[in-house]
Amino acid sequence: MTEYATIVVETRGRVGWITLNRPEVLNALDTQIMRDVVAAATAFDADEGIGAIVVTGSERAFAAGADIKEMESKTAREMVEDDHFGDWSRFAAVRTPVVAAVSGYALGGGCELAMMCDIILAADTAKFALPELNLGVMPGMGGTQRLIRAVGYAKAADIILTGRRIDAVEAERSGLVSRVVPASDLLEEAGKIADTIASKSLPSVYAAKAALDAAMETPLAEGLRFEKEAFAALFDTEDQKEGMAAFREKRAPEFRNR
Ligand code: CAA
Repeated sequence: MTEYATIVVETRGRVGWITLNRPEVLNALDTQIMRDVVAAATAFDADEGIGAIVVTGSERAFAAGADIKEMESKTAREMVEDDHFGDWSRFAAVRTPVVAAVSGYALGGGCELAMMCDIILAADTAKFALPELNLGVMPGMGGTQRLIRAVGYAKAADIILTGRRIDAVEAERSGLVSRVVPASDLLEEAGKIADTIASKSLPSVYAAKAALDAAMETPLAEGLRFEKEAFAALFDTEDQKEGMAAFREKRAPEFRNR
């Protein structure tokens, strides 16, 4: 398995694990960690033995934001020409479902990275914020667009314009996170969610994720058309025949992922 400078990567069964590993800066997201996460996630995505990915940080911090020290001296022109956060769009575009297991700080880019994932599982110690306005900037890794879709305008405006932190309970109540678990159970629970997803037929998982993503982009009628076509296409897979035969025969399906 490839070694990376800023992350630890491992495979457990059909699940690929990416652990952010810049403890000295609370997993601040610099260009190197962006490249490493994108490389690891796209490698897992290309591997048919992988059915789900988990991204996590440390107990203290999922990630405390984009690396402020790396950005501090940049000009507007450099930010645009470098497309400073551009590679993250490749992470957001992986076909494989991604579970973010968040403990401690998920601030700024850390919260935005979690929001690029499909499911956010929060430890009861998790703290979310988009504090970029405190730095004289604004969210720049998707925060203004993804938070509003997750929690609605009222809550998103409150969180972004004040920069205040919300705890795991408020994050769950608001719809930002899927579930909250005790911090000591976070990785085990994230693993269970990922194992469950990875046990299903890959074509159906890819199609369902693509349809969920489409819902974020399209009006209802277009989204429903997308769903109808994606649903129908699955009837040409071996796994659809196997899944439905297994139901009829009252046994567990044995998916072949095609
Ligand atoms: N970038 C660079 N370094 C960071 C960092 C960041 N986002 N967050 C923390 N660090 C560094 C600190 O500078 C410190 O390094 P030194 O020991 O060399 O001083 C180390 O991590 C530990 O941090 P603290 O000493 O500050 O730890 P703390 O427990 O006192 O505070 C914290 C923790 C509240 C998370 C605090 O570190 C903090 O406020 N961090 C910045 C949070 C932030 O503003 N995030 C948004 C960044 S901008 C962004 O993300 C833009 C975007 O839209 C993508």
